[in-house]
Amino acid sequence: MKLPRGFITILALYVFIHHMEALEVGGPTQELINSICAETVDYELCKEIIHKHLDTKTMNLFDLTHLIFRIATEHASDTYVFIGNILREHPDPEETTGLNTCLTAYTDETSTFLKVRHEFCQEDYERMIIDILSTRKILKRCRTDFQIPLNKKKLLIEKGRVMKILINMSAVSGYMVTNGNGYLLSSVVTEPCFFNDVDQVSNRLISSL
Ligand SMILES: *[C@@H]1O[C@H](CO)[C@@H](O)[C@H](O)[C@H]1NC(C)=O
Repeated sequence: MKLPRGFITILALYVFIHHMEALEVGGPTQELINSICAETVDYELCKEIIHKHLDTKTMNLFDLTHLIFRIATEHASDTYVFIGNILREHPDPEETTGLNTCLTAYTDETSTFLKVRHEFCQEDYERMIIDILSTRKILKRCRTDFQIPLNKKKLLIEKGRVMKILINMSAVSGYMVTNGNGYLLSSVVTEPCFFNDVDQVSNRLISSL
């Protein structure tokens, strides 16, 4: 079979342009995000969370994992502050027990994710996975069956839902890194592990205690 020359030129151009485009709009990064999110409880929410925090178009598995851990740490510490504020506004004894349990849960959630990030940067993946899995149990300690204003309760439940998927996302990408899937995008330059924002989160936690 002989294909007309023009057809082959157009085909070659199409493949070339398509490929260029994919690289420019971060195609491989999007594929990576899709493959991480496909293994989580909520594909759409996972993608939404990542896109909201993405600051560059191309990221490899290491960058994305680092980003997910950072979002999880910040979400845990923000929720800690949120619960602290409810406690200040509603100091009735019947509410404080449940709220205090949640407060401790989110403190532990924050410090565990700080640890996870440290282990990730140290390439101590075995301990990292153990610690990620422990955050599931920690989250379960915060039940929301106590009496607080409905709007606050709804927010707390929503924050718990986001925390849950962030833990799931952390586990998924943590496993991918551990299993050495990073070679998939090894051509993308990896940023070294930075810890400046870890200090920021811990300072915020300490100052709000
Ligand atoms: C993420 O959540 C899904 C759905 O609950 C679950 O099947 C999967 O095992 C979780 N992945 C990890 C690595 O925890």
